[in-house]
Amino acid sequence: MRRLFLLSVFTARVFADPGSAVCSPCHAEIVERFSRSRMARTAAAESPGNWSLGSGAIGKSYITFLDNFLVQSPRSYFTATRSYGLSPGFPNAQTFRPVEEPCLQCHASGVQLVKGTQNQYPNPPFTQPGVTCQRCHGPAAHHSVNPAKLPPERRDNVCEQCHLTGAAKVTRAGRNPYDYQPGDRLGDFVSIFVSGAQTNATGHAEQLAESACKQGAGDRLWCVTCHDPHGGRKTNTCQGCHTPDRCHRGPQCESCHMPKAASKDAHVAFTNHRIGRPAPPPRPLRLFWNAPIPPRDLALAQPSIPRLERVEPKDAAVLTQLGQLYDQAGRGADAVRVYREALRLNPAEPTAAANLAIYEAQRGETAAAEASWQDVFARYPGLPGPGLNLAASQLRRGDRPAAIATLRRLLRFHPGHAQAREILNRLTR
Ligand code: HEC
Ligand code: HEC
Ligand code: HEC
Ligand code: HEC
Ligand code: HEC
Ligand code: HEC
Ligand code: HEC
Repeated sequence: MRRLFLLSVFTARVFADPGSAVCSPCHAEIVERFSRSRMARTAAAESPGNWSLGSGAIGKSYITFLDNFLVQSPRSYFTATRSYGLSPGFPNAQTFRPVEEPCLQCHASGVQLVKGTQNQYPNPPFTQPGVTCQRCHGPAAHHSVNPAKLPPERRDNVCEQCHLTGAAKVTRAGRNPYDYQPGDRLGDFVSIFVSGAQTNATGHAEQLAESACKQGAGDRLWCVTCHDPHGGRKTNTCQGCHTPDRCHRGPQCESCHMPKAASKDAHVAFTNHRIGRPAPPPRPLRLFWNAPIPPRDLALAQPSIPRLERVEPKDAAVLTQLGQLYDQAGRGADAVRVYREALRLNPAEPTAAANLAIYEAQRGETAAAEASWQDVFARYPGLPGPGLNLAASQLRRGDRPAAIATLRRLLRFHPGHAQAREILNRLTR
């Protein structure tokens, strides 16, 4: 699933988020209270060029610059065991993962992605660590949006921008998720598909939607019924709608109806928000919001050749995904055709360029192939395939120093890459 939205290159609308300070002359109490909340403290500068993500209630992950790329460290801190361990989702401790995943979209504000890339940032990469007032109230320059006064779908969207991932998240054609502002409809920027599995932190919105309580209460019940968005939780929230004689089992309603699960993964919801419902078996993907499913987005969320072939018009993301399926099916001529078309629409598309180069090399167009791998590897050192192909091509034409430099760079990002290490050892013995 990951590659689907990772490899669609978008440009960020950079607006320097001035942070909460600009609101303090008039809203000092809220600014002070919010500054102590987990959301405000969910990222912090540890040392120059080095930040932690997470308030530490559950744990912390670390990001730092490697060359000019922002990477996530393979080691995270886990508060429950007070120890360091492998970051969730990492295959081993010998890999730095370029921050291509939108960690910063949820953990920082005023993110300044370099135009036309999805993994290069200036230093510092964001103007404000953590969640700021503007993320829920809109840019300071405009009239502040009060989420509670928005129509229910747009109101809920404010929290869903960071508390809903679902089973697949697909950027809408021609859209950029960084452009969403409170008051907009989130579904105009991303299609979020759910399957009932609710396996991540962002399961809160999904679980709540599934609960018998939410289904009974409708739009009256939302996150802010129980949570103070400026920090802390409200008490006796159930009693606002249920009289105590509704259930005679005790006053601590949540302890039974919203049990906590023990989990080490920072991105698994702890408190079950499916009030009054047992866990369901997984179901086919459907859109989280009650809206028609865009066929393009479903085809990207659940890729298959027939589904992708039916999509019109085909953009670079659709064509690249289709090319990979043609590759797997051994349909080389079709793959070449759609990769070329993808690159015509988006010359910066890395997967199409790197895979097309494999076919070029097979046809003997080695110079063109090497130039493509060189270009993709320069922009995406986190993709080991283009790096290995580049080194092999450099070796074939006898340029040992270039191959050694390529492998050394690959190993900076993947210190544990056995194949690259082995070839480098042979070359430098
Ligand atoms: C110069 C003083 C001032 C500054 C600075 C200021 N506000 Fe306000 N804000 C007010 C006043 C006064 C009200 C109440 C106005 C009203 O009731 O219509 C208010 C109301 C609000 C409301 C409620 C609006 C509604 O319709 O319910 C929000 C939300 C808000 N401000 C957010 C912010 C945020 C976020 C910032 C910083 C980016 C900010 N304000 C900066 C003075 C200020
Ligand atoms: C869609 C929004 C979103 C994205 C993307 C995201 N996170 Fe999170 N993250 C959250 C939320 C929400 C929580 C709180 C979960 C909870 O309390 O159950 C969280 C929790 C965490 C925590 C634990 C914080 C604590 O409470 O101590 C860490 C560490 C973390 N995230 C790191 C990351 C990293 C690294 C990435 C990128 C690989 C990432 N996150 C991507 C929303 C997001
Ligand atoms: C996580 C989202 C979120 C963040 C971040 C946030 N707010 Fe709010 N804010 C809300 C919501 C939701 C409401 C409506 C609350 C309600 O009606 O119960 C609100 C209401 C307000 C109001 C009007 C009602 C009141 O409580 O006085 C002001 C003023 C306000 N916020 C200012 C701020 C300021 C200043 C900051 C930054 C320090 C901030 N908010 C950060 C979500 C947020
Ligand atoms: C810009 C991203 C973002 C938005 C918007 C956002 N959150 Fe969060 N929220 C986070 C992250 C990240 C965390 C994890 C904080 C940490 O590191 O512990 C979190 C944590 C929380 C927590 C658990 C911590 C606590 O203080 O109890 C609650 C509750 C919460 N958010 C509610 C909301 C609500 C309600 C809204 C909408 C009004 C909202 N959030 C909007 C990113 C966001
Ligand atoms: C009916 C009440 C209720 C509603 C509605 C609700 N929550 Fe919660 N939430 C809770 C309770 C209770 C906890 C556990 C709090 C604690 O331990 O202090 C919790 C905990 C959390 C946490 C902390 C991590 C965890 O899993 O324990 C986050 C994040 C969170 N809620 C987000 C949300 C978001 C986002 C929404 C809206 C989609 C939402 N909640 C709606 C009651 C509610
Ligand atoms: C905004 C109002 C509202 C709030 C707040 C609320 N509920 Fe509900 N809840 C309802 C409504 C309405 C229904 C459906 C009618 C009914 O069963 O009472 C319902 C249904 C339920 C059900 C399912 C009942 C069944 O028939 O299966 C449970 C369990 C439940 N709520 C528990 C809670 C708990 C626990 C809390 C606090 C954490 C809570 N509710 C907070 C309005 C609310
Ligand atoms: C000690 C655990 C416990 C506590 C505390 C508790 N409940 Fe329950 N509640 C249950 C169980 C178990 C059921 C029956 C569930 C079932 O039959 O599926 C139930 C049933 C319910 C129902 C559905 C009743 C119906 O008509 O079928 C509601 C609504 C409800 N509880 C609300 C609350 C509220 C509100 C509170 C707090 C005032 C609360 N509960 C406290 C365990 C608890």
